[in-house]
Amino acid sequence: MPKWKTIIEPFRIKMVEPLGFTTEKERSDLLKKAHYNLFQIPADKVLIDLLTDSGTSAMSSEQWACLMRGDESYAGARSWYVFEKAVKDLTGYRYVLPAHQGRAAERIFMSVSCGPGKTVIANTHFDTTRANVEAAGSVALDLPVKEAFNFSSAAPFKGNIDIAALKKSISEIGARNIPMIIMTVTNNSLGGQPVSLSNLKEASKVARQNKIPLIIDAARFAENAFLIKLREREQSHRSVIQIAREMFSLADGCLMSAKKDAFANMGGFLAFNDSGWLKKAKELLILGEGFPTYGGLAGRDLEAIAQGLKEIVDENYLSYRARSVAYLAEGLKKHKVPIINPPGGHAIYVDAKHFLPHILPHQFPAQALVCELYGVAGIRSVEVGSLMFGRGKGRDFEPAKMELVRLALPRRVYTQSHVDFIIEVFGFIASRKKFIEGLEIIEEPKTLRHFTAKLKPVRVGGFR
Ligand SMILES: Cc1ncc(COP(=O)(O)O)c(C=O)c1O
Repeated sequence: MPKWKTIIEPFRIKMVEPLGFTTEKERSDLLKKAHYNLFQIPADKVLIDLLTDSGTSAMSSEQWACLMRGDESYAGARSWYVFEKAVKDLTGYRYVLPAHQGRAAERIFMSVSCGPGKTVIANTHFDTTRANVEAAGSVALDLPVKEAFNFSSAAPFKGNIDIAALKKSISEIGARNIPMIIMTVTNNSLGGQPVSLSNLKEASKVARQNKIPLIIDAARFAENAFLIKLREREQSHRSVIQIAREMFSLADGCLMSAKKDAFANMGGFLAFNDSGWLKKAKELLILGEGFPTYGGLAGRDLEAIAQGLKEIVDENYLSYRARSVAYLAEGLKKHKVPIINPPGGHAIYVDAKHFLPHILPHQFPAQALVCELYGVAGIRSVEVGSLMFGRGKGRDFEPAKMELVRLALPRRVYTQSHVDFIIEVFGFIASRKKFIEGLEIIEEPKTLRHFTAKLKPVRVGGFR
């Protein structure tokens, strides 16, 4: 038999949802009405939604069956035991606490272990993780490897933590002032890039030598484990589940948003070994989430997550997933669209600063591209640039480090022809990109401005 070259979608479709077709005029009006902020566009007016891969997965027929099986008893529901077993089988940790989503697990865990005068170190904190560390009165310190900022380098593990910088920071800050080291796998804030198993081993060694707990932010653990299998030669013969279990064994606990690599639309959990954390964490769980055997989730959700955790390590699925992301990257490169290389696990990040050099950072080139993608074809993406991370206005303007557009691929939702369409749209945009105009903010909230800020085209006369 030949070794088949085409990696197919490893599912067939049983239920479909219509896409939101609109006319060019409708989209232009919608953009104006939304003040050029795509968080304000109704989802049924979006043709292809690449805003996020979080909570947007298509559940399997087995997961839908789980919804019917869910036991909604307040305490000790059967679904809780199914969930607890699935998390323990995967992670090997002794204690499991459910939460309504990843940030709730973060809030509980940071409240238990952080506090004023403490510093949490990470390869890179995801925004909500950072916000929860800071809300608990601590400092969040990111120590990514330098190559993470070199978009053209094909370094395979740009999600790694800088081990030398980690050792230096521990000796400067003092181990007793560091309540935990977090490894975010994959590293969402830096392009969804994976962490290598050898980097995780080194981080674990440093953490254990200094008696600092190592915690995995496991939102995309399976995508990371698969990229380890693909890119780390010594790991290529192992199964993804073996690699994933070893990843968890190197740490003392994990935080997980089940909205990513558990194919769930809602949910999360924390799991760990230390009985010292358990009492306080349970108290906080009951206070904010619910009784410890449901923690903010319906029994049916617990069952669906348990099932999702088993499905996600299927290597037919993971090779289709990695191939879909790589296929989109290859298509964009054909149109000379600059992206972060190599493609990460869940998204492609377009480097808008280089794609639209005529738009300076204070005119939000990445947001301009986000609007163009919607205006031209109804594709929704998200800006990860100066609108999200920049500060101030006019002379006080401080740009973000990068001006990126993230094209996040929901799991099991779109097919190859959808991706072909996205590539075609980019080809069209690339051919007339010099006409794209910048934007300016006309109204913004004090925090997290990208969600609600109002913008307008820089030149009077409309965006398009
Ligand atoms: C790496 C990572 N950690 C934590 C979270 C927070 O999870 P949630 O959105 O479920 O609160 C996210 C969400 O995108 C994430 O990507």
